[in-house]
Amino acid sequence: MRIDIISVVPELMHSPFAGSIMKRAQQAALVEIHFHNLRDYTSNAYKQVDDYPYGGGAGMVLMVEPIDKCISALKAARDYDAVIYMTPDGDVLNQQAANKLSLLNNVIVLCGHYKGVDQRVRDLFVTHEISIGDYVLSGGELAAAVLCDSIIRLIPGVLGNETSALTDSFQDGLLAPPVYTRPAAYKGHKVPEILTSGNTPKVDAWREEQALKSTQEKRPDLLE
Ligand code: ADE
Repeated sequence: MRIDIISVVPELMHSPFAGSIMKRAQQAALVEIHFHNLRDYTSNAYKQVDDYPYGGGAGMVLMVEPIDKCISALKAARDYDAVIYMTPDGDVLNQQAANKLSLLNNVIVLCGHYKGVDQRVRDLFVTHEISIGDYVLSGGELAAAVLCDSIIRLIPGVLGNETSALTDSFQDGLLAPPVYTRPAAYKGHKVPEILTSGNTPKVDAWREEQALKSTQEKRPDLLE
Protein backbone atom coordinates (compact mmCIF):
# COMPACT_ATOMS: atom_id res chain seq x y z
CA MET A 1 0.00 0.00 0.00
CA ARG A 2 1.13 3.54 -0.77
CA ILE A 3 -0.22 6.51 1.21
CA ASP A 4 0.44 10.10 0.10
CA ILE A 5 -0.33 12.63 2.81
CA ILE A 6 -0.84 16.27 1.85
CA SER A 7 -0.50 18.89 4.56
CA VAL A 8 0.71 22.42 5.35
CA VAL A 9 2.51 21.08 8.45
CA PRO A 10 3.72 17.58 7.53
CA GLU A 11 6.30 17.70 10.34
CA LEU A 12 3.39 17.26 12.78
CA MET A 13 3.09 13.67 11.53
CA HIS A 14 6.73 12.58 11.44
CA SER A 15 6.96 10.99 14.86
CA PRO A 16 3.83 8.77 14.71
CA PHE A 17 5.28 7.13 11.60
CA ALA A 18 8.81 6.85 13.04
CA GLY A 19 8.19 4.22 15.69
CA SER A 20 6.48 0.96 16.53
CA ILE A 21 4.12 -0.74 14.06
CA MET A 22 3.98 2.05 11.47
CA LYS A 23 7.78 2.20 11.31
CA ARG A 24 8.10 -1.58 11.03
CA ALA A 25 5.49 -1.74 8.28
CA GLN A 26 7.51 0.76 6.24
CA GLN A 27 10.79 -1.04 6.90
CA ALA A 28 9.19 -4.30 5.75
CA ALA A 29 8.04 -2.48 2.57
CA LEU A 30 4.40 -3.34 3.35
CA VAL A 31 3.49 0.34 3.23
CA GLU A 32 5.09 3.46 1.73
CA ILE A 33 4.31 6.82 3.29
CA HIS A 34 5.02 10.00 1.33
CA PHE A 35 4.51 13.45 2.87
CA HIS A 36 3.79 16.41 0.61
CA ASN A 37 4.01 19.99 1.81
CA LEU A 38 1.26 22.00 0.17
CA ARG A 39 3.56 25.04 0.09
CA ASP A 40 5.69 23.25 -2.51
CA TYR A 41 2.72 23.49 -4.90
CA THR A 42 2.11 27.24 -4.71
CA SER A 43 2.69 29.57 -7.63
CA ASN A 44 3.12 32.77 -5.62
CA ALA A 45 6.36 34.14 -4.12
CA TYR A 46 4.99 34.00 -0.56
CA LYS A 47 4.10 30.31 -0.81
CA GLN A 48 0.61 31.31 0.27
CA VAL A 49 -1.75 28.35 0.62
CA ASP A 50 -4.74 29.98 2.33
CA ASP A 51 -6.91 33.05 1.94
CA TYR A 52 -9.88 34.83 3.52
CA PRO A 53 -13.30 33.23 3.07
CA TYR A 54 -15.64 34.79 0.52
CA GLY A 55 -18.59 36.31 2.32
CA GLY A 56 -16.48 37.11 5.36
CA GLY A 57 -16.19 35.36 8.68
CA ALA A 58 -13.42 34.14 10.93
CA GLY A 59 -10.53 31.92 9.86
CA MET A 60 -8.65 31.17 6.68
CA VAL A 61 -9.48 28.65 3.96
CA LEU A 62 -7.00 26.44 2.08
CA MET A 63 -7.03 27.41 -1.59
CA VAL A 64 -8.04 25.06 -4.38
CA GLU A 65 -5.06 25.71 -6.69
CA PRO A 66 -2.14 24.25 -4.68
CA ILE A 67 -4.27 21.26 -3.68
CA ASP A 68 -5.25 20.68 -7.33
CA LYS A 69 -1.58 20.89 -8.37
CA CYS A 70 -0.46 18.43 -5.72
CA ILE A 71 -3.24 15.89 -6.33
CA SER A 72 -2.89 16.18 -10.12
CA ALA A 73 0.89 15.60 -9.91
CA LEU A 74 0.29 12.46 -7.84
CA LYS A 75 -2.46 11.20 -10.14
CA ALA A 76 -0.22 11.73 -13.19
CA ALA A 77 2.25 9.25 -11.68
CA ARG A 78 -0.18 6.46 -10.69
CA ASP A 79 -3.84 5.61 -10.19
CA TYR A 80 -5.41 6.21 -6.80
CA ASP A 81 -8.21 4.21 -5.18
CA ALA A 82 -9.25 6.96 -2.79
CA VAL A 83 -8.71 10.63 -2.00
CA ILE A 84 -9.58 10.99 1.66
CA TYR A 85 -10.20 14.38 3.27
CA MET A 86 -9.82 14.49 7.05
CA THR A 87 -12.59 16.69 8.43
CA PRO A 88 -14.75 16.84 11.58
CA ASP A 89 -17.89 16.79 9.39
CA GLY A 90 -16.89 13.54 7.66
CA ASP A 91 -18.06 9.97 8.31
CA VAL A 92 -16.87 8.93 11.75
CA LEU A 93 -14.08 6.35 11.49
CA ASN A 94 -14.82 2.88 12.79
CA GLN A 95 -13.24 -0.57 12.53
CA GLN A 96 -15.34 -1.56 9.51
CA ALA A 97 -14.18 1.49 7.55
CA ALA A 98 -10.55 0.81 8.52
CA ASN A 99 -10.91 -2.82 7.37
CA LYS A 100 -12.21 -1.69 3.97
CA LEU A 101 -9.56 0.99 3.47
CA SER A 102 -6.76 -1.46 4.35
CA LEU A 103 -7.54 -3.36 1.13
CA LEU A 104 -6.69 -0.40 -1.13
CA ASN A 105 -3.41 0.05 -3.00
CA ASN A 106 -2.83 3.79 -3.45
CA VAL A 107 -4.46 6.36 -1.23
CA ILE A 108 -4.19 10.15 -0.91
CA VAL A 109 -4.95 11.66 2.50
CA LEU A 110 -5.59 15.41 2.53
CA CYS A 111 -5.29 17.24 5.83
CA GLY A 112 -7.36 20.37 6.32
CA HIS A 113 -6.11 23.28 8.37
CA TYR A 114 -7.50 26.58 9.57
CA LYS A 115 -11.22 26.63 8.56
CA GLY A 116 -10.78 23.78 6.09
CA VAL A 117 -10.49 23.61 2.32
CA ASP A 118 -12.32 25.46 -0.46
CA GLN A 119 -15.51 23.45 -1.10
CA ARG A 120 -14.43 22.93 -4.74
CA VAL A 121 -11.61 20.67 -3.50
CA ARG A 122 -14.21 18.43 -1.93
CA ASP A 123 -16.48 18.56 -4.97
CA LEU A 124 -13.74 17.90 -7.52
CA PHE A 125 -11.20 15.58 -5.92
CA VAL A 126 -12.33 14.01 -2.66
CA THR A 127 -13.84 10.49 -2.67
CA HIS A 128 -14.07 9.92 1.12
CA GLU A 129 -14.53 12.39 3.99
CA ILE A 130 -13.45 11.00 7.35
CA SER A 131 -13.68 12.30 10.92
CA ILE A 132 -12.00 10.62 13.88
CA GLY A 133 -14.65 11.81 16.31
CA ASP A 134 -17.05 14.58 17.27
CA TYR A 135 -14.49 17.15 18.38
CA VAL A 136 -12.44 19.68 16.46
CA LEU A 137 -8.67 19.41 16.12
CA SER A 138 -6.42 22.23 14.94
CA GLY A 139 -5.87 20.39 11.68
CA GLY A 140 -6.31 17.04 9.99
CA GLU A 141 -2.72 15.89 10.64
CA LEU A 142 -3.21 14.05 13.91
CA ALA A 143 -6.45 12.60 12.55
CA ALA A 144 -4.54 11.40 9.46
CA ALA A 145 -1.97 9.69 11.69
CA VAL A 146 -4.78 7.96 13.60
CA LEU A 147 -6.46 6.87 10.37
CA CYS A 148 -3.17 5.52 8.93
CA ASP A 149 -2.38 3.60 12.12
CA SER A 150 -5.83 1.99 12.09
CA ILE A 151 -5.33 0.92 8.45
CA ILE A 152 -1.67 -0.07 8.42
CA ARG A 153 -1.93 -2.53 11.32
CA LEU A 154 -4.51 -4.46 9.27
CA ILE A 155 -2.26 -5.01 6.24
CA PRO A 156 -1.34 -8.72 6.19
CA GLY A 157 2.17 -9.27 7.55
CA VAL A 158 2.34 -6.00 9.50
CA LEU A 159 1.47 -7.50 12.88
CA GLY A 160 3.75 -10.31 13.98
CA ASN A 161 0.89 -12.53 14.98
CA GLU A 162 -1.49 -12.66 12.02
CA THR A 163 -4.49 -13.26 14.23
CA SER A 164 -3.93 -10.41 16.61
CA ALA A 165 -5.70 -7.74 14.53
CA LEU A 166 -8.64 -10.12 14.25
CA THR A 167 -8.95 -10.32 18.03
CA ASP A 168 -8.89 -6.52 18.46
CA SER A 169 -11.86 -4.82 20.06
CA PHE A 170 -14.64 -4.12 17.51
CA GLN A 171 -13.53 -6.76 14.98
CA ASP A 172 -16.40 -9.05 15.99
CA GLY A 173 -18.63 -6.21 17.13
CA LEU A 174 -17.53 -6.68 20.73
CA LEU A 175 -14.92 -5.09 23.00
CA ALA A 176 -11.86 -7.20 23.73
CA PRO A 177 -11.84 -9.32 26.93
CA PRO A 178 -9.43 -8.49 29.78
CA VAL A 179 -5.85 -9.75 29.46
CA TYR A 180 -3.27 -10.70 32.11
CA THR A 181 0.43 -11.57 32.19
CA ARG A 182 2.91 -12.69 34.85
CA PRO A 183 2.92 -12.76 37.83
CA ALA A 184 -0.10 -15.00 38.47
CA ALA A 185 -0.66 -13.17 41.75
CA TYR A 186 0.24 -9.55 42.46
CA LYS A 187 -0.20 -8.08 45.93
CA GLY A 188 -2.92 -10.65 46.56
CA HIS A 189 -4.73 -9.99 43.25
CA LYS A 190 -4.91 -13.25 41.31
CA VAL A 191 -5.28 -13.93 37.61
CA PRO A 192 -8.58 -15.77 36.85
CA GLU A 193 -7.80 -19.46 37.35
CA ILE A 194 -9.20 -20.51 33.99
CA LEU A 195 -6.39 -18.66 32.20
CA THR A 196 -3.70 -20.77 33.87
CA SER A 197 -5.65 -24.04 33.44
CA GLY A 198 -4.21 -24.86 30.00
CA ASN A 199 -7.74 -25.75 28.82
CA THR A 200 -7.93 -23.84 25.52
CA PRO A 201 -11.66 -24.40 24.75
CA LYS A 202 -12.54 -23.21 28.26
CA VAL A 203 -10.24 -20.21 27.92
CA ASP A 204 -11.88 -19.32 24.59
CA ALA A 205 -15.36 -19.63 26.12
CA TRP A 206 -14.31 -17.47 29.07
CA ARG A 207 -12.92 -14.81 26.75
CA GLU A 208 -16.12 -14.73 24.70
CA GLU A 209 -18.22 -14.41 27.83
CA GLN A 210 -15.98 -11.62 29.20
CA ALA A 211 -16.06 -9.77 25.86
CA LEU A 212 -19.85 -9.84 25.92
CA LYS A 213 -19.97 -8.73 29.57
CA SER A 214 -17.52 -5.87 28.97
CA THR A 215 -19.50 -4.72 25.91
CA GLN A 216 -22.78 -4.85 27.83
CA GLU A 217 -21.26 -2.74 30.62
CA LYS A 218 -19.21 -0.23 28.65
CA ARG A 219 -20.75 -0.02 25.18
CA PRO A 220 -24.30 -1.45 25.15
CA ASP A 221 -24.89 0.53 21.91
CA LEU A 222 -22.63 -1.98 20.08
CA LEU A 223 -25.07 -4.78 20.88
CA GLU A 224 -28.17 -3.03 19.51
N1 ADE B 1 -9.79 17.95 11.48
C1 ADE B 1 -10.15 18.66 12.55
N2 ADE B 1 -10.87 17.93 13.42
C2 ADE B 1 -10.95 16.68 12.87
C3 ADE B 1 -11.57 15.47 13.27
N3 ADE B 1 -12.25 15.37 14.41
N4 ADE B 1 -11.46 14.41 12.46
C4 ADE B 1 -10.80 14.52 11.29
N5 ADE B 1 -10.19 15.62 10.86
C5 ADE B 1 -10.27 16.70 11.64
